[in-house]
Amino acid sequence: MNLEEALKARKSVRAFKPDPVPLDLVKEILELARLSPSGTNIQPWKVHVVAGEVRRRLEEEVLAHRETDPADKIAEFPRTSKRKEPYTTRMRTLGKQMYGLIGIPKGDQAANWKQWGRNYQFFDAPVGLIFTIDKDLDCMSFLDIGIFMQSIMLAAKARGLDTCSQGAWNNFWSVTRRVLDVPDEEYIVCGMSLGYADETAPVNTLVAEREPIESFAIFHGFD
Ligand SMILES: Cc1cc2nc3c(=O)[nH]c(=O)nc-3n(C[C@H](O)[C@H](O)[C@H](O)COP(=O)(O)O)c2cc1C
Repeated sequence: MNLEEALKARKSVRAFKPDPVPLDLVKEILELARLSPSGTNIQPWKVHVVAGEVRRRLEEEVLAHRETDPADKIAEFPRTSKRKEPYTTRMRTLGKQMYGLIGIPKGDQAANWKQWGRNYQFFDAPVGLIFTIDKDLDCMSFLDIGIFMQSIMLAAKARGLDTCSQGAWNNFWSVTRRVLDVPDEEYIVCGMSLGYADETAPVNTLVAEREPIESFAIFHGFD
């Protein structure tokens, strides 16, 4: 798969087969992702790669905590749930499409809650990635993490694997910190599921819409 093919084929997968991903394959992907650029080459990314018993315990403990303390949804670093247009509409369109495919009726809070909880099961992917960053760094370094994540997603796709980035993992971060022994000096930025897509799952037919380039690119000096 060349780069263009991988860019076009990558999409977020939210149902995985149980087939394991060999450690060597994960390392091969990380070997490529470590080539990602970063501001002043500081390479701020850190990633916890979880599988097997640790992955199972992380899932179990986060889900248990979520039941006992459902309001503990605040990220450790500033985030906002308030969105203005056009972002609100784009977010709602995605939600509508996704919940439609899963078969969750509008306003069914219990089903929404349950489905969102699938994030903490890595959508059944055998491997989960938890990205952390030193708290001393600023938002420019968060860009570096994003670039690193995209490298992982494309390298994975090119090897027949699928992914889903998961901001959901910056909720309930205190549990993740404890289970994975993440130092207090680091933020848990994001998670990612990694595995083989369950092609039979309706949720995986979702194709998230994209805006045309005219809506985001402002060209200067071309005439
Ligand atoms: C930083 C980031 C965080 C995301 N967090 C979540 C998440 O917590 N749960 C989820 O199901 N999808 C999550 N996504 C996936 C997005 O919803 C998805 O990328 C977007 O809708 C575009 O769809 P596509 O990835 O299929 O092209 C996240 C994506 C990114 C880049």
